[in-house]
Amino acid sequence: MTRKPFVVANWKMNGSLKANDEWLSAAMPQMSGTRLACDVAVCAPFIYLPQLVIGFEHSATLVGAQNCAQYAQGAYTGEVSAAMLADIGCDLVILGHSERRTLFGETDETVAGKVKLAFDNGVMPIVCVGETLEEREAGRTIEVVSRQLRAVLDKVGILPLVSGALAYEPLWAIGTGKSASAKDAQAVHEALRAVLAEVDQEAAQRTRILYGGSVKAKNASELFAQPDIDGALVGGASLKAEDFLAICHCADSL
Ligand code: 13P
Repeated sequence: MTRKPFVVANWKMNGSLKANDEWLSAAMPQMSGTRLACDVAVCAPFIYLPQLVIGFEHSATLVGAQNCAQYAQGAYTGEVSAAMLADIGCDLVILGHSERRTLFGETDETVAGKVKLAFDNGVMPIVCVGETLEEREAGRTIEVVSRQLRAVLDKVGILPLVSGALAYEPLWAIGTGKSASAKDAQAVHEALRAVLAEVDQEAAQRTRILYGGSVKAKNASELFAQPDIDGALVGGASLKAEDFLAICHCADSL
């Protein structure tokens, strides 16, 4: 089974109209049409999504949000629903990022509910799982990420993950410059695929599992060479178009 590599930029709470335009101008010569062989997405703060939807009009690049509401609609001041994301042409949404789980109190249950709303509205979810340093050192990595994944599978099944992606992001590797080794990341990805296979063998083989946590052009090729690492979710190194494209080219040359 060959899965098409998928490289996703997560800008987090960064950017401005001007900086985003500069990013687009720098990237479009290499991103227009289907110049990149891998699948590519850029996930930006809500308010900049229309700018990216228009900016990537002539590109195969997908546009993603970084969160959506856990409710369908109504009196939820300040929230943005999955239906609204679909309405403005947003293709996908990152859900369950560790920054949402740890800083904004999202539980396995809220994440699973959001995945259902996104998928039901035609927005592909990128579901994040990952362990803390303390959990890793206690030998609980596989237990923790399997629990996070099963909460989603139990609620919505595997199809939303086949349409979007699963992302393994160890918390201790995010923004620290300390990536998991390719071998350690592969071991977790393999375990995650085994959990997916408990639900559906064939769909598990089709699901892309991305690695996130200090991915840069200099470690991307080794990560992408692992049999169960199907791409990357890139934070810091996605803020400059050239750095992000360099990672996309590593995926293209697989
Ligand atoms: P960094 O690439 O900055 O470590 O961030 C990873 C991440 O959280 C992507 O979602």
